[in-house]
Amino acid sequence: MTLASDALDRVLVLEMVRVTEAAAIAASKLIGRGDKDGADAAAVEAMRAALNQLPMDGIVVIGEGERDEAPMLYIGEKVGSAQGSGPQIDIALDPLEGTDLTASGGPNALAVLAIAERGGLLNAPDTYMQKLAVGPGYAEGVIDINKSPADNVHSIAHAKGVNPGDIIACVLDRPRHAEIIAELRSLGCGIMLIPDGDVAGAMATADPGTGIDVYMGTGGAPEGVLAAAALRCVGGQIQGKLVFRNDDEVARARRWGIDDLDRIYAIHDMAKGDCIFAATGVTDGSLLKGVHRTKSCITTETLVMRASSGTVRRVATEHYRLGSKRSL
Ligand code: FBP
Repeated sequence: MTLASDALDRVLVLEMVRVTEAAAIAASKLIGRGDKDGADAAAVEAMRAALNQLPMDGIVVIGEGERDEAPMLYIGEKVGSAQGSGPQIDIALDPLEGTDLTASGGPNALAVLAIAERGGLLNAPDTYMQKLAVGPGYAEGVIDINKSPADNVHSIAHAKGVNPGDIIACVLDRPRHAEIIAELRSLGCGIMLIPDGDVAGAMATADPGTGIDVYMGTGGAPEGVLAAAALRCVGGQIQGKLVFRNDDEVARARRWGIDDLDRIYAIHDMAKGDCIFAATGVTDGSLLKGVHRTKSCITTETLVMRASSGTVRRVATEHYRLGSKRSL
């Protein structure tokens, strides 16, 4: 049974919204409480419970870590209520992308999930990944992670028909990016420095409202795969290269069957075939509104997108406390 052929796939699109909504609502109780681990744990527990209600034979390929370091939603964990009989689905998840953002009440924390047919998502180790992403509308080849930031800016500017100095880049605010930032500044580019949350950063390239043309820099490899799934759905591009800080990380990658440590991963190497991506805002951000509470209701906003249909849906949900089966 495959995602593309199974009637369940359409059901799963909306079911995924429930899953990321549940994680976001759970994490939102801890916004601004200075407790990033507590917020993450709440999101994990809620996402796991929601995933286990879905009629699928799912397996987590990108999760909270390996079994010995993650009690729940670990890589290899089976989720779904139809093990052995339902559609075989690979799942990449980050129940709380932006744990520090949530703890400090910063922008763009998300609950994120991507699913694909078995084998459709790169089993990326929990290391860093150098990433380069642009939104839709560019010919393949416009970006090349082997080239310098300046070369890429020139190429994007040429394709867009603007000057290099008109290009706006999103970069994680980290000391390791000092050289990239200096190179971009020398071209006169605008730089949006983000404190955390590079799934949202890469996705911002596909949102004309942000003005961001390119995302570049090094962040988590799992987040790279999630960003690839998202950009696949809208025709964006991303390239990634794993970055290893020590022998342990190299060994970890080899355990995942990665022999070519210098490999450049194109978008289809990270998310291939049909895939569905969903993200619910935890805190307010440029991409999505966060979770809000009134006296009687909780509101959430979710983006759910599918590669095979190229559909992007924004789902605004009101969760009323009256008659609710769940604790909100
Ligand atoms: P967490 O939610 O796991 O804290 O990740 C936030 C994040 O900013 C990611 O978006 C990004 O890929 C990664 O951390 C960058 O790692 P580091 O903080 O070590 O630079």
